[in-house]
Amino acid sequence: MLDLSQFQATGKETVFHGRHINPQIYAGIDGNNWGLKDYEARGGYAALRKILGRDGGEGMSQDQVIAEVKASALRGRGGAGFPTGLKWSFMPRAFPGQKYLVCNSDEGEPGTAKDREILRFNPHTVIEGMAIAAYAMGITVGYNYIHGEIFEAYERFEAALDEARAAGYLGDHIMGSNFSFQLHAFHGFGAYICGEETALLESLEGKKGQPRFKPPFPASFGLYGKPTTINNTETFAAVPWIIRNGGEAFLAAGKPNNGGTKLFTISGDVERPGNYEIPMGTPFATLLELAGGVRGGKKLKAVIPGGSSSPVIPADTMMACTMDYDSIAKAGSMLGSGAVIVMDETRCMVKSLQRLSYFYMHESCGQCTPCREGTGWLWRMVDRIENGHGRPEDIEMLDNVAENIQGRTICALGDAAAMPVRAFIKHYRDEFVHHIEHKTCVVPAYI
Ligand SMILES: Cc1cc2nc3c(=O)[nH]c(=O)nc-3n(C[C@H](O)[C@H](O)[C@H](O)COP(=O)(O)O)c2cc1C
Repeated sequence: MLDLSQFQATGKETVFHGRHINPQIYAGIDGNNWGLKDYEARGGYAALRKILGRDGGEGMSQDQVIAEVKASALRGRGGAGFPTGLKWSFMPRAFPGQKYLVCNSDEGEPGTAKDREILRFNPHTVIEGMAIAAYAMGITVGYNYIHGEIFEAYERFEAALDEARAAGYLGDHIMGSNFSFQLHAFHGFGAYICGEETALLESLEGKKGQPRFKPPFPASFGLYGKPTTINNTETFAAVPWIIRNGGEAFLAAGKPNNGGTKLFTISGDVERPGNYEIPMGTPFATLLELAGGVRGGKKLKAVIPGGSSSPVIPADTMMACTMDYDSIAKAGSMLGSGAVIVMDETRCMVKSLQRLSYFYMHESCGQCTPCREGTGWLWRMVDRIENGHGRPEDIEMLDNVAENIQGRTICALGDAAAMPVRAFIKHYRDEFVHHIEHKTCVVPAYI
């Protein structure tokens, strides 16, 4: 049993360098007001009251709640951007046995550090969002799977759960209604693969975190083989705002097909790395400005827009993008989890890819041959190019190995390892060639 007392929150934390534009999740957050009373003062649990008819109103039916979430154009914040309302409608509501709701707070993607901060600074919005989701889908038991290397967020979420239970927002007959929902925190195992939803379910069941074949999808065969809905932490965190203000208002706060605000974690070569909540569709240039611009006034070289698995985008293309699923997809990448890694002109792309490839080799669960073997080969080849032992044929071979991993594995970790390789080669082939021909880097800082 871990002794969590050594990670005790001081209560004096400040929001992780946050600067936001019209925030929804971070509205009114000052770093110290995570508790129930403050959350209620910000309008917290009003949405749960509303759907249960405990605000003097008529309440909302399950269909009405799902329709509101559909109208909001909320898309899953875990990476794939799947429409949340649609996912909720897949849950077989009339299923006679136990159904489960799971929150994915695994957050292992390099560059991503938003979910842990929501849990630290606004944990009740996740609890309320999950309770609303459970009501809409007729679910009575839920778990929040929190990454095993994140202690403070886990501890904070546990404390918030205690508060919510004591206040009657969780448990049997919530606020005297017929709706009951038991919610638990689960401290996970600190592996990237445990963020993949079916590996997460295996891990939650106490087994080794390895992905399952899909189909069947979790909506029909999930936790303990029962219908299960899994959403990301930020996805749930957005739900109370939607119910309080209406799906249309959420949609209007973003752009068509990309409702609401989104949290972006900016890291790398910027003056103020951190989490920024901005409306979907905000120009990348504005986000970069919020983060203080490129560090030291240097020139922007490239951006990885959605966590390490999303293909790198060269500076010019990125500066023309807006921060939403559609714009980033059009630029040939993915918004993913919203982890924006900024690289300035001094970054060597071979070295950057060497580091990324090492991560994927290390995190491959080993279940599928193309991923288990292929990620190792990708790293070995990039490593030898970086270290001056590259061969002229390596570049084509790298692309070929990546191509043969992509789409040939049970889960998307294989794709996540392959896509960055192909994008780095596509946009920065010259640097790879230079490394091979001259056994040194094209970037002066690395020579
Ligand atoms: C290798 C891998 C790692 C993932 N890690 C996470 C994660 O840390 N958090 C997360 O929410 N989703 C992660 N996902 C996506 C989940 O499988 C799933 O799509 C997501 O939790 C669904 O929630 P959403 O619809 O709200 O986005 C990962 C997927 C893969 C393939």
